[in-house]
Amino acid sequence: MFFDSHAHLDDKRFDEDRHELIKGLPGMGISYVLNAGADMESSRKSIKLAETYSFIYASVGVHPHDAANMKDSDLKALAELSRAEKVVAIGEIGLDYHYDFSPRDVQRERFAQQLVLAGDLGLPVIIHDREAHGDTLDILRAHRTVLKGGVMHCYSGSREMAGDFLDLGLKIALGGAVTFKNAARPVEVAKYVPLEELLIETDCPYMTPHPFRGSRNDPGLVRLVAERIAEIRGLDAAEVARVTLENACALFGISL
Ligand code: NI
Repeated sequence: MFFDSHAHLDDKRFDEDRHELIKGLPGMGISYVLNAGADMESSRKSIKLAETYSFIYASVGVHPHDAANMKDSDLKALAELSRAEKVVAIGEIGLDYHYDFSPRDVQRERFAQQLVLAGDLGLPVIIHDREAHGDTLDILRAHRTVLKGGVMHCYSGSREMAGDFLDLGLKIALGGAVTFKNAARPVEVAKYVPLEELLIETDCPYMTPHPFRGSRNDPGLVRLVAERIAEIRGLDAAEVARVTLENACALFGISL
């Protein structure tokens, strides 16, 4: 039984077969999926999916890619959306200095505002950090007193820096990158971060695990992430699945 802690099933790449795909997931051992919002529209769609399927939960938030399009009034709108029963986190929020789709100062401002919002709402956060580890850490540290836990989604930093995020009470989520043939840092992280601090995810439709790279990812493939972490740590995949599921339920306040 698996908890895919980060999916985008609202993505248009699922338009053709979304319902059939989602219906088939419990039969593949997928017990829970968190569908992450990335802008106002996908946040609303995530809630809709969570209302439709019992095993799907939602987060609401604005991704750094979309920070420049975010309006001040969206903060209030996110607070209202977060009242929906199955919204369990604010995210994904953070910094992306790889694509720089929004100016960096705007990214930092919207990230900080959404951290404060999550604190006010008493919700954990889902953090996107791409090539912005230093600034992400600085902003999180500056908001340490408001943080109610959270997860570094699709974590790509070093094992040393993972320790800095753990010190802030955050979990580390690993996805398809840990299965890649050239994976170095994710493998180190999978080896040394305590299992009690790890989550697994797909980030589907992106980040498809080996050996399916190049095709569309979906929550059913989270099994390959668990199997690879188990191999790295010398554990049973079932144990990795069980512990990461319990970790995600605890973080998101979902009773088992
Ligand atoms: Ni994502």
